[in-house]
Parts: sequence; structure tokens; C-alpha cells
Amino acid sequence: MDDQAIIKAYKRYAGSYDRIFGKVFEHGRRALIGKMGFAPGQRILEVGVGTGLSLPLYPKEVSVVGIDISPHMLWHARNYTNGNGSRSLSLMDAQSMSFADNSFDKVAVMYVVTVVPEPEKMMEEIRRVCKPGGDIFVVNHFSNPHLIPRMVETVMLPFKGLLGFRPRFSLEAFLAQNPLQVVETCPVNLLGYWTLIHARNAS
Ligand SMILES: C[S@@+](CC[C@H](N)C(=O)[O-])C[C@H]1O[C@@H](n2cnc3c(N)ncnc32)[C@H](O)[C@@H]1O
Repeated sequence: MDDQAIIKAYKRYAGSYDRIFGKVFEHGRRALIGKMGFAPGQRILEVGVGTGLSLPLYPKEVSVVGIDISPHMLWHARNYTNGNGSRSLSLMDAQSMSFADNSFDKVAVMYVVTVVPEPEKMMEEIRRVCKPGGDIFVVNHFSNPHLIPRMVETVMLPFKGLLGFRPRFSLEAFLAQNPLQVVETCPVNLLGYWTLIHARNAS
């Protein structure tokens, strides 16, 4: 999987994304934003904001910058920024961001870790742009050891380019690759098949 394959995959998804993944992922989005504990005036970065389904869930008192590598997904997200100067969008690769160091108080990453070709590069960038001691929140599907989900993952593996995500990626590997101070992890979405991680930026 490379960036061009991802842009192509999300060009295909963009028009129907909200119908397919809107409700399915909603519990995780709400749970993550519910745990963010905002203070007025804070600057929030959302990485891989997609069609912007999460944007109405943030409180008005914080400013939110959403980035995404897919112009087609971002085109839909514009619907959630109109008339609200504290919501902005940028076409940007999360693996190489143009923000200065320590730009954000908190970072949210929803359903992106298994999509980017180099998740450890993305997480390194997130730690760089997040203030030291700031909060990083991730929600994602990680490999499931149970028989049926594992069989489904195995069937999907050859189609990862077409699907636009890696069906098999373990939480242990993700945490081992990324120096994060994990505060909490909890299961979210259908059958608790996805994991929400709250970590503190140690950088
Ligand atoms: C599964 S969608 C998740 C969208 C949204 N976060 C949500 O909650 O529905 C993954 C998103 O990550 C974006 N993405 C993939 N690679 C990226 C990268 N390198 N930089 C920024 N965004 C990326 C895709 O374009 C897509 O919009």
C-alpha cells in the first residue's frame, strides 16, 4: 500500500463513505471525543479527518484543524466548516506535516493507523506537533485473536490495496513501535472490536 493507492481508494469511497462508515464508527468517534477533556482556547489536530463526520462533535470553545491526504474526502468535510472560523482543513500527509513543533494541545486519530503506509512515521510526526505532556487519542481496529474475526482478516489480506487499509495489525506491535505513555485503552464499537487508546505525549 502506498499514498497513491490510498488516495485512489478514498476517491472511490468518498461519495458513499458516510453511508457505509458513518454509523458503524460513530460510537468510537463519540467515545474518543468524550474523553478528550477540552479547555477553552485549546488547539486540536485531527489526523485523517476524512469527510468531517467528527467535526460537529467538538465543543465550540476549541479550534480544530483537520488534515487528510485525500482531496475527495476533504471536499465533503467542507460542509462542517462553513461559517465557523475555528474549524479548518488542510490537504496534508500525516507522515510529513508542515506544522511547527508543539503546535497542538491534543491530537485525535480515528481509523487511520491501519490506513497510512508508515504508521510509525505518522506517530512520530504526531508526537512532534503535539505539545510535550499533551494528549494523543487513537481509535482503530487492531488484529483480533478470535477465530472468526481472524478468518475474516485472512480473507481480506490480499485485497488491502483495494480496501485502502491493512486488515491485520496488532495493538502490541503498534505500542511497541511508538513510545507513548498509555493512560487508558478501552474497547469501542460493535462487539468491542475496535480499541480506543488515550496516551500522553512523552516527547
Ligand atoms: C477510514 S478513513 C477515517 C476517516 C475519519 N477519521 C472517520 O472517523 O471516519 C481514513 C482516512 O485517513 C486518510 N489518510 C490516509 N492516509 C493518510 C495520510 N498519509 N495523511 C493524512 N490522511 C490520510 C484517508 O484519506 C481517509 O480519509
